[in-house]
Amino acid sequence: MDSKVLEMRNISKSFPGVKALDDVSFDLKAGEVHALVGENGAGKSTLMKVLAGIYSKDSGAILINGNEVKIESVRDAQRLGIVMIHQELNLMNHLTVAENIFIGREYKKKFPLFLDAGKQIKKTREIFSELNIDIDPTVKVGKLTVAKQQMVEIAKALSYDSKILIMDEPTASLTDSEIEDLFRIVRTLKEEGRSIIYISHRLEELKIISDRITVMRDGRYIDTVKTEEADIDDVIKMMVGREIFVKKQEPFKNEDAPVALKVENLSAGRMVKNVSFHVRKGEILGFAGLMGAGRTEVARAIFAAENYESGDIYINGRKVKIKTPNDAVKAGIAYLSEDRRRYGLALGMNVDENISMANMKKFSKLLFIDFKKSFTNSQMQREKLDIRTPSLKQRTKFLSGGNQQKVVLAKWLTRDSEIIIFDEPTRGIDVGAKNEIYKLLNNLAQQGKAIIVISSELPEIIRTCHRVLVMCEGRITGELIGDEIDQNTIMQYAIKRDINNGRLSS
Ligand SMILES: Nc1ncnc2c1ncn2[C@@H]1O[C@H](COP(=O)(O)OP(=O)(O)OP(=O)(O)O)[C@@H](O)[C@H]1O
Ligand SMILES: [Mg+2]
Repeated sequence: MDSKVLEMRNISKSFPGVKALDDVSFDLKAGEVHALVGENGAGKSTLMKVLAGIYSKDSGAILINGNEVKIESVRDAQRLGIVMIHQELNLMNHLTVAENIFIGREYKKKFPLFLDAGKQIKKTREIFSELNIDIDPTVKVGKLTVAKQQMVEIAKALSYDSKILIMDEPTASLTDSEIEDLFRIVRTLKEEGRSIIYISHRLEELKIISDRITVMRDGRYIDTVKTEEADIDDVIKMMVGREIFVKKQEPFKNEDAPVALKVENLSAGRMVKNVSFHVRKGEILGFAGLMGAGRTEVARAIFAAENYESGDIYINGRKVKIKTPNDAVKAGIAYLSEDRRRYGLALGMNVDENISMANMKKFSKLLFIDFKKSFTNSQMQREKLDIRTPSLKQRTKFLSGGNQQKVVLAKWLTRDSEIIIFDEPTRGIDVGAKNEIYKLLNNLAQQGKAIIVISSELPEIIRTCHRVLVMCEGRITGELIGDEIDQNTIMQYAIKRDINNGRLSS
């Protein structure tokens, strides 16, 4: 018989105006990876925060190895062997790897004023070698990639000898090879008999890594299925409560539409080498490639968020000088950065303020701001993007991760720019809302906007783009139109190094 290491029974939890968890049950076996899925705001993070001692539950029971336990603080949870690795990592950038792992419980030497740094470093090395990870314990955490930082978080969890690890969207910002590393570590943890709760919006991962899948919707438990027997389409249906149809983008009909943006011989740093391209009004142009191919850097250079060494930019046929992001906005370019939490959101302000803030010009009459108009706009954006919040007056820090992203999206859409660059537009966004965003991209294109979509998800590129440029190591290696746009062809160009010095043959 499978023994349950954890049982959560009939858990409920309300926040002002939101019933985040309504009678939810969940269990976990030893050595199991149990995936938890659901739309943005379904309650996944909240359920796990209850387990990790961050939130207290209103009702329900938690059992560990069959015995009811009280979890009233993070320390309580840690003592019971439960540790959560958050959607937003929680490390101190200015401290070393070892210092981060042992923060708050440093090894002391006999003479109490001195830390035993040597012992901490040794202990850290032991954990890393157990996991077969190559990270120097003495390096500052701020110098590490997100993937490595995440491994530090996992090592930290293990240093508490955790039996239950909660991973909240661990692969959201990892490259493919980093994801493989993470999965290898997860498998090692499993073999050691540890259990993992795995939250993800990347449903294709579930088949690879999970043993069972539990679906939540609107704060409620829907069902638990064995992964081997599960059909991912059925899981999606349970998540959104309806069927979702996806089809390939139709060909671009308006081939002589005016060119909205033309970029010639753009070079910036090591990541952008002699890049030339154009996008027409009404067209959706994709930038595909592996992570680190230079796609984001192209966007940042155009937007003047990064310096560029050489290159010319034309908007509606006129050469423009863009020296600051502000110039770019004035020239009609919007850039929705991939790191939206960091650049796009004022967490202490409410949803309406966040949407309206950058758009005050649009809403002012003479010297007065027309708050009614801005509020109506926010209301409309909320409906269009299905932003789940009890009210527009809710502070954004209380929204779920995916809904925070939608607020940033709303803010840029309000700006009405002619050229819009979307960098990973649906990262952290659930399947149902993804589809809404794809529709939105099509609507914007139909209104004559020129759209650029940078995405690491090939299905997303295929669904949304009329034309696709593939990049590898800072160069454009291929241009695909219509039927040429498929996963295999894109991948071939994505690993094609240094041809024609980055120029397209046509
Ligand atoms: N501290 C809080 N105060 C008020 N409301 C909150 C708080 N934390 C979460 N909520 C609300 O509870 C609901 C569930 O949020 P939760 O973060 O658990 O969703 P999620 O399933 O993790 O979504 P995502 O996939 O977007 O991360 C949401 O409506 C959210 O706005
Ligand atoms: Mg969440």
